[in-house]
Amino acid sequence: MNEIEKIKEEFQSQKADVRDLNALRQLKARYIGKKGIVTQKVRSLSSLPKEERPRVGRELNLLKSFIEEELKKLEKALSEEEAKRNLLKDHIDITLPGKYIEPGSYHPINQVLQEIIDIFVTMGFSVEEGPEVELDYYNFEALNIPREHPARDMQDTFYIRTETSDDFIVSDVVLRTHTSPVQIRGMEKRKPPFRFIAPGKVYRCDSDVSHTPMFHQVEGLMVGEDVTFADLKGVLEIFVHQLFGPQTPVRFRPSYFPFTEPSAEVDIGCILCGGKGCRVCKGTGWLEVLGAGMVHPKVFESVGYDTERYKGFAFGMGVERLTMLKYGIDDIRLFFENDLRFLRQF
Ligand code: DAH
Repeated sequence: MNEIEKIKEEFQSQKADVRDLNALRQLKARYIGKKGIVTQKVRSLSSLPKEERPRVGRELNLLKSFIEEELKKLEKALSEEEAKRNLLKDHIDITLPGKYIEPGSYHPINQVLQEIIDIFVTMGFSVEEGPEVELDYYNFEALNIPREHPARDMQDTFYIRTETSDDFIVSDVVLRTHTSPVQIRGMEKRKPPFRFIAPGKVYRCDSDVSHTPMFHQVEGLMVGEDVTFADLKGVLEIFVHQLFGPQTPVRFRPSYFPFTEPSAEVDIGCILCGGKGCRVCKGTGWLEVLGAGMVHPKVFESVGYDTERYKGFAFGMGVERLTMLKYGIDDIRLFFENDLRFLRQF
């Protein structure tokens, strides 16, 4: 009996030192675990004289329930304390200022590109795409630019190396130098009448204030039985007036491209000086904005179209150049440096 009281007292004093759940588990094992003090006492009941067993057994049971009850209360208190500590550790100070996430925006080139596409889509043109790694055939041959044709020098081509002979590279694969090859690919899978534009990236081995090795063009092609140069003028005039404003003067100047005949270059009245003559228009009052013309019969022949029956016009423009003129930007490289102080202005 004395012994049981002693165990209880010891338990009480050890319990007072328990500060966390781990210590609690140890205390529990020490008293009522498999080899616990109380458990062993219960097991040794059989060694007592028969008359004493019921009384001591009852006392031990009371002690065991008492310990279980005490441990349960302590466990509850300790878990609550621990939960509270965790909450404080992870707490969020909702009075702190938030992090500002800057919204992105479209690059000026993509903005103008989208504007150009919208203007032509409104006039009934569909949008066509072609590969940037292109066959010599589509980039040159089918557009009436045969090998050795001087027009190939007009465009500084990046060749994809396919076969090397002693001192020069022979290759059938190029990075497209213009979007004109999409004219051929588009015609191969259509029957006239149709009209489409082909926006995309083009590549030339060239780099200065007005040239970058990669830039964007928008090609246009309209073919039918009664498409005339007057249609070309009308479509391009509407285009210029939409992009640069309805008062913008437009003029067509004779020019040369292998894939059109006749060919023209289109100028607009200088946006910067209003036609009086300045540094940008080199004193002429005019700015060249695109190339165009009536599709050359040789081009129709390469896609098997009846050259007697069908006529068509084509045009091509550089998006970087148009963007520079529209916003008065004097260095094309600004588009590719991605300086936020520049980009934020659009
Ligand atoms: N492909 C020409 C170039 O990159 C631009 C061009 C001129 C396209 C006249 C045309 C065109 O479709 O008719 O310089």
